[in-house]
Amino acid sequence: MHCIRKITDDLYWVGANDRRLALFENIHPIPRGISYNSYLLLDEQAVLFDTSDWAVCRQFLENLETALNGRKLDYLVVNHVEPDHSASLEEILLRWPDVKIIGTAKAFTFLHQFGAKTEGHEDPVKEGDTRCFGRHTVTFLAAPMVHWPEVMVTFDTTNGVLFSADAFGSFSALDGKLFNDEVNYDRDWIDEARRYYTNIVGKYGMQVQSLLKKAAKLDIKMICPLHGLVWRSDLGYYLGKYDKWSRYEPEEKGVMIVYGSMYGDTESAAGAIAAKLVEKGVKQVEMFDVSSTHVSHLISESFRLSHIVLASVTYNLGIYPPMLSYLHDMKALNVQKRTFAIVENGSWACTSGTLMTDFVTKEMKNCSVLENRLSIRSALGPDAEPQLDAFVAAVADSVNG
Ligand code: FEO
Repeated sequence: MHCIRKITDDLYWVGANDRRLALFENIHPIPRGISYNSYLLLDEQAVLFDTSDWAVCRQFLENLETALNGRKLDYLVVNHVEPDHSASLEEILLRWPDVKIIGTAKAFTFLHQFGAKTEGHEDPVKEGDTRCFGRHTVTFLAAPMVHWPEVMVTFDTTNGVLFSADAFGSFSALDGKLFNDEVNYDRDWIDEARRYYTNIVGKYGMQVQSLLKKAAKLDIKMICPLHGLVWRSDLGYYLGKYDKWSRYEPEEKGVMIVYGSMYGDTESAAGAIAAKLVEKGVKQVEMFDVSSTHVSHLISESFRLSHIVLASVTYNLGIYPPMLSYLHDMKALNVQKRTFAIVENGSWACTSGTLMTDFVTKEMKNCSVLENRLSIRSALGPDAEPQLDAFVAAVADSVNG
């Protein structure tokens, strides 16, 4: 059965949801699934904006054919080549062999690399070019590295719709609701949107800032991304989040305590730190077991909060491997402008504190480590309370100060 949504008088969502995929990019858990958004403009020309992942191609084609209602497809705009949006392209060519494909020169290079036979269909465009489809004229803006080099976004100058590629996307399938004002966004969507942004696009803050600067010059009325909800109201809210995330500024003052614990003693110390921080008036305190929390959630919280307590046992004379993996992911995704505090544990030859401090100060950008370090030898006993209190006071002062 087809499943389409009308967006404006002549624009339709014809994408599809995947609720079976466990891992997006075979890395990130998506328990609520993912949507692959594709949009059909029925002007004098029929224009499709991006396609879908192969896994949902059958549903996507049924939606598209229903919305076309017997019309032929004239244009396909490829804003982004990554296969979750272009894998169904050859099915389009088979059904509508006269279709013209609009994309950047690099997009065609990548399509060829993935084996798509687009020769004879190609209509390459670059920044500032326009195409008129009848009532609607669109212009193209380069958006390199948001999140691949070939990416462009397409702005419909007639009605203010921005087809934004991966930008402004989100994890989570659409459960019938397509628009941001049809959901309780802060309750049900912001965490998955942040996890999507920070893990997929987070590395490219500078490039996102460039795109935001271009977007600021446009009279955008609606944002149609390749994943997640369509934004038709309160655009400033989401643009503001993107501005903050891409400048690596924390959304909130607060502390995430990430602990790596083998037998529960480091976890116990982390719990005591959390309780004492709350007693000192720190409102946002979150605890994460680094061994059982997927790193995509840790990255998302690292973008949200201002302070990070790293509490790690020493393992093979080094940092506990899951903690080291989290540190490497933070570096890879450019997490910066954060304040860290260090808790180390080791029954002998305790090295994790110095190694974590070195990583944060030498490998990451614009981060600081509080001088007060909590050192544990196997387990914290009652006699360690003054040391614990001093550590918590230093963290709380930094958050509240
Ligand atoms: Fe949703 Fe970069 O692909």
